Amino acid sequence: MQQLLSQMTQEEKIGQLCQVSGAEGYVPDHIRHAIQSGQVGSVINEVHKETINELQRIAIEESRLGIPLLVGRDVIHGFKTIFPIPLGQAASWNPEIIEQGAKVAAKEASMAGVNWTFAPMIDISRDPRWGRIAESLGEDPYLCAELGSAMVKGFQGDYLYGESIAACAKHFVGYGAAESGKDYCATNIPPNELRNVHMVPFKAASENKVATFMSSFSDIDGVPASGNKWLFDQVLRKDWQFEGFVVSDWESISQLTIHGLTENLKGAAWKAFDAGIDMEMVSTGYRDHLSELLQEHDEDDTRLNQMVERILTTKFQLGLFDQPTLECPGIFEQLPEAHLQAAKQAAVESCVLLQNRDDVLPLNKNLSKIAVIGPLADDGYEQLGTWIFDGEERHSQSILSAVQSSVSEQTQVEFHRAMNTSRSHEVQNMDALTESVSNADVAILVLGEEAILSGEAHCRAELGLPGCQEQLIEQLRQTDTQLVLVILAGRPLTLEPVLNNVDAVLYAWHPGSMGGPAVADLLFGDANPSGKLPVTFPRKVGQIPIYYSQKLSGKPVNEHNFVHIDDIPVRAAQTSLGMASNHLDVHFTPQFQFGFGLSYSQFSYQNLQLSTKQIDVDGTLVVSVDVHNTSNRTGVEVVQLYIHDRVASLTRPPKELKGFQRVSIGPGQTQTVTFNIDKRHLGFYIADGTYLCEPGIFSIGIGSSSNPELWNEFELIKTP
Ligand code: NOJ
Repeated sequence: MQQLLSQMTQEEKIGQLCQVSGAEGYVPDHIRHAIQSGQVGSVINEVHKETINELQRIAIEESRLGIPLLVGRDVIHGFKTIFPIPLGQAASWNPEIIEQGAKVAAKEASMAGVNWTFAPMIDISRDPRWGRIAESLGEDPYLCAELGSAMVKGFQGDYLYGESIAACAKHFVGYGAAESGKDYCATNIPPNELRNVHMVPFKAASENKVATFMSSFSDIDGVPASGNKWLFDQVLRKDWQFEGFVVSDWESISQLTIHGLTENLKGAAWKAFDAGIDMEMVSTGYRDHLSELLQEHDEDDTRLNQMVERILTTKFQLGLFDQPTLECPGIFEQLPEAHLQAAKQAAVESCVLLQNRDDVLPLNKNLSKIAVIGPLADDGYEQLGTWIFDGEERHSQSILSAVQSSVSEQTQVEFHRAMNTSRSHEVQNMDALTESVSNADVAILVLGEEAILSGEAHCRAELGLPGCQEQLIEQLRQTDTQLVLVILAGRPLTLEPVLNNVDAVLYAWHPGSMGGPAVADLLFGDANPSGKLPVTFPRKVGQIPIYYSQKLSGKPVNEHNFVHIDDIPVRAAQTSLGMASNHLDVHFTPQFQFGFGLSYSQFSYQNLQLSTKQIDVDGTLVVSVDVHNTSNRTGVEVVQLYIHDRVASLTRPPKELKGFQRVSIGPGQTQTVTFNIDKRHLGFYIADGTYLCEPGIFSIGIGSSSNPELWNEFELIKTP
């Protein structure tokens, strides 16, 4: 490495810091020349086998030092085999399924010559209006840290070699807190929340050796991330000792000028370099100005060398220097069955059963007639969701086709698209549709959002079912037929207007290539729902931000002091109202709480036991609970553990997730589930990054959602 570095000219070193955007399918002359003269360290968005092979050949054979390229691509929830959107995968609460998905994606992407992905996105997301919530792992730091680290492990394997690719923890930091859920907006995050919420999954990713970090587009307290020295130089490098390299987001260095932090691209390049951004994505501040800037700032090559070294180290770790050529084999035509089955299992575990009145689900496969309704029922493209650059509709199996192949030969399945798209304002053939539903034993309505309604820059101010879907449901409610609503969406939607009009709701997110068979297995009981919400579902947009770990106010609301607008007497005195922290026009609870999800089995919780009532900060508390499956079906329950540090020098949330376990329990069986709790779960960070564990009383809650069934308490002590 040092030998290679010592042979490099300053121009070649700066070249390693530059990422260029490839032209799809061919190598344009300007990129060919730039690679030949050592001015490119990485290409982004090139996936054609021949082009990637040619790009690497030029780098290896025609540049002076033959340094291979990092080939970056957004491989977010699958490459060819598309898994559920990350928010859906998070609903599995299953690190293994997430690791497996990333492993399959890495294998497929590496076959196409891609060696670096820009995932996982571990931005804490508490605003469903934000389109990128789809790409996130939800609202909770602990869950996001666990699942994000599993994704890193899946992409990177034990070594960055062979079928592994480098991962990227993005977007450091606070991108998900964009004001009003509008993409790229400024964020306002106090240090306490930055440290204890937004940074938590990133710290975990760094500890789990993620190869790279990406800076966020956001303005953080006046300094956009890509020029934020405190964030990268102090926190990431000095405090966390992160050894990989940092890439900017797409043109986020040149955007420092639009933010108003610098006058021009040259100033932006200096800010970014000084902050410690190792590689510039697409904009050309480093290429055009860095050499001159180093001279003007009287800066020797020390910091430049460190940046180059970090990038070259990743290339060495990926094994790019080990082969004389980097000919990639290209991706297979038919997706391997094992990949499809992994995607199906992920989709099964991602779906969340939100409502199941009178046990309408699971459905009988021998019904005489099933109506399948909706624009998303037979659309292999829309079910893939956002960020699927390389996924193809032809590999998808739709819900309609899976329903058709699940039912008995005698069952008639009648399909009506009903609306042209999910956003249409008109129902097609309403009369025929109503008749078809009236004559059916059950209607499966597959509604929600098309893929394009979530993702980057696709934010919404309203969160109801789009277009005329609510009216469609209302109309079909007029029939006597039971209605099962399957929702495909990239975010939590506000479902209050339709919940009374349907019998069951299965929330399938955008479930990916194998979404159809997964949903059908759940509808017909070949699989038992086990997904749990990784994010709170509001009743109304006006409740946002609403998340389970919201701090207590001095006047918390409860069933006794809550006053609804309809209950206020005319000319009531101001002080006669409850004077509690709530909106007048919506109940204070969410529609569905974080961690919630039904199963075809029922579970009861008993016997919450603590190994001791007092533990020392260096000790371990063993917490156990008996979970009893009271039903006659085997089911998987996600047992969740929450804590509350009751009094601290900085106020703490009344509930914080600190453990979860997925357990499969047979009918009538009881399983004892055990958690070990220690100081890693009991402390919090203060503004300078110091971790404090303060003695005092803690509550501990265990249950099937963020409204735990059982609570107990213990004392944390510090022996001198
Ligand atoms: C912009 C997005 O914010 C980022 O997440 C993505 O990886 C890059 N574009 C590259 O496509």
